[in-house]
Amino acid sequence: MFSLAKFYITTAIDYVNGNPHLGHAYEKIGADVIARFKRLAGYDTFFLTGTDEHSLNVARQAEAEGLSAKEFCDIMAGSFRDAWDKLNISYDRFIRTTDSDHIATVQDIVRRANERGYIYKGTYSGYYCVSCERFIEQGDLIEGKCPFHPSREPEWLEETNYFFALSKFQEPLLRHIRENPEFIMPVTRRNEVVNRIKEGLQDVSMSRSTLTWGVPFPREIDDNQVVYVWFDALINYLTGAGYVPGTDEFGKWWPASLHYIGKDITWFHCVIWPATLMAAGVPLPETIFGHGFVTFKGAKMSKSEGVVVDPLKVTDSLGADPLRFYLMKVVPHGQDGDFSFEGLAEAYNADLANDLGNLVNRTTAMVEKYFNGKVPPPTGVADSLDEELKALGADVARKAREKMEELDPTSALSELWSLITAANKYIEDSAPWVLAREGKRERLATVMLNLVEAISKGAVMLSPFIPDSSQRIWDVLGLPGKPEDIRWGENLEVASLLPGISVTKTGPLFPRLDMETSDFTAGEFHLAELAQEKKKEGRKRQAGLSENNSADTVKGEADVSDLISIDEFARLDLRVAEVIAAERVAGTDKLVRLEIDLGTERRQIVAGIAQFYAPDELVGKHIVVVANLEPARIRGIESRGMLLAGSTEDRKELAIITVDKPLAKGARVR
Ligand code: ME8
Repeated sequence: MFSLAKFYITTAIDYVNGNPHLGHAYEKIGADVIARFKRLAGYDTFFLTGTDEHSLNVARQAEAEGLSAKEFCDIMAGSFRDAWDKLNISYDRFIRTTDSDHIATVQDIVRRANERGYIYKGTYSGYYCVSCERFIEQGDLIEGKCPFHPSREPEWLEETNYFFALSKFQEPLLRHIRENPEFIMPVTRRNEVVNRIKEGLQDVSMSRSTLTWGVPFPREIDDNQVVYVWFDALINYLTGAGYVPGTDEFGKWWPASLHYIGKDITWFHCVIWPATLMAAGVPLPETIFGHGFVTFKGAKMSKSEGVVVDPLKVTDSLGADPLRFYLMKVVPHGQDGDFSFEGLAEAYNADLANDLGNLVNRTTAMVEKYFNGKVPPPTGVADSLDEELKALGADVARKAREKMEELDPTSALSELWSLITAANKYIEDSAPWVLAREGKRERLATVMLNLVEAISKGAVMLSPFIPDSSQRIWDVLGLPGKPEDIRWGENLEVASLLPGISVTKTGPLFPRLDMETSDFTAGEFHLAELAQEKKKEGRKRQAGLSENNSADTVKGEADVSDLISIDEFARLDLRVAEVIAAERVAGTDKLVRLEIDLGTERRQIVAGIAQFYAPDELVGKHIVVVANLEPARIRGIESRGMLLAGSTEDRKELAIITVDKPLAKGARVR
């Protein structure tokens, strides 16, 4: 599909206003699998990922945490980089939009587009969605809200900006898409984009005059504006390619072979970006692939509300490979796919532990037992079972390669699994234990050699998906170097490496996972905790301690479970307080006004206990109150906290919770 021997792949660069989440992880893993495959297939490959830092969200988040925007970004970019290192993402450059070469590239592209007459000054008045960092056209609002972020009010903007003449590119874009069927993939995304372009293109604002956090506009054009974050961000792909400002050298790696991005940002990548490049006289990238979304328990994820999954916590307990494997298996080519802990455990146990792990263990144990651990040389004693396995191996290598070239790792993985299944069946069908018993040594040697060959081919082809495990298999087989050293071209040749290598018998490659006892589900967070986490992180950041591994992937609806986590419980600030004074609230027979002493402060609370206690009885009691309850006005009296009491369903009986021996006022109850 890609004619060039060079392959330049990029991911989207992530906003750093939150930690990396499972959706970000999915994208980086998908791109990594493709990049690793391309390297195996012999392409000269360059893989770019990074962070998008000049967003309004970032500036606001930094301010909220008492940091400068740059300080905040330094910490957050570190979190993203660490996350990708933990997930074994083999990027060649981690670009940040605050990098100086990027700033120079952005300014140069603005200059070029300006010289060609595609930039003009005007007044923008309209809505802006801070969550998407996009100007929203009136017609796109749904009930006055951004279609992607209905829970957040769009902001009204009115400012003098520079505009980009996008409207001039309708025909050139349609022509380019028509003439290059692989420009936008998959086809569903292409159709969506084409239909929207046909509706007409309007010029877009490309600068901000009311912000200072951003790439400054070229001084000779205007020294009072910054480049709008999306214009700045997209240009990272050129910076990463090695673009030389002020020249027509677009960089060793340009044009990009593949921009691998999410379906929510195809408009920017398939319309704004190519139009910008056309305006600046720069060639266009070859392919933009809009992948689908990872959902959690069926709900769409966004950074704003709901339940979160921390990919790194999953990785902490299982290593990177099970998550990489599972996400590639469960989110099909270009479509959405649902993540669940149960699904992950099932894929781990059935595919990795049972199919792959057992295949390797059984084979090495047999080579150990029958041949003292040394893989025997070929004997020439072959039968139809051997031919079948070899033919299947060659077929799988070809088909999986085709699927990878089509940017479909999910189907490639399923092809590869047919080799693992076939190798397990080959053991059953050729029954090496019977051959051993009957003294058929030559046949036994052939069977062992064929198994080791199938496994080592499998290790090479699986290395883009599960690089650590492939290396472990390689090492257990006693093969030299790395599986990545083998070329996965028209052929995949490992046979010559095998005779005489010494296998090692080891424990299970993938110890079975028990949902009951494993802590790998610890990555699930609830929104309330997330808010707490965020506050904690903010405080830590200020103290210079970044906590890099608590990512947030959020779902839109509340979880239905009635169980709360220990952290949710810990949000309640329960305290012992002494009742100093009490009186009935006039005009009601239910309410009492209490004055309480919390040790460090006195407060008044109102409680509905007048039918059960006379005010005098209450004075001197050491009660328990929820000290961090929002203040409320009850019958015009401010109540700051709530006392705890037990009552029957019908509220005929009620008793206040007190401590059963003296405890300091203000003592925490937990
Ligand atoms: O859009 N499943 O940044 P971002 C799969 N800075 N992919 C997901 C996802 C999910 N649940 N949630 C998000 C931005 N993504 C810009 C990009 S590029 C020049 C600038 C993907 O942090 C999303 O589709 O909001 C995008 O490709 C990437 O994560 C970064 O999202």
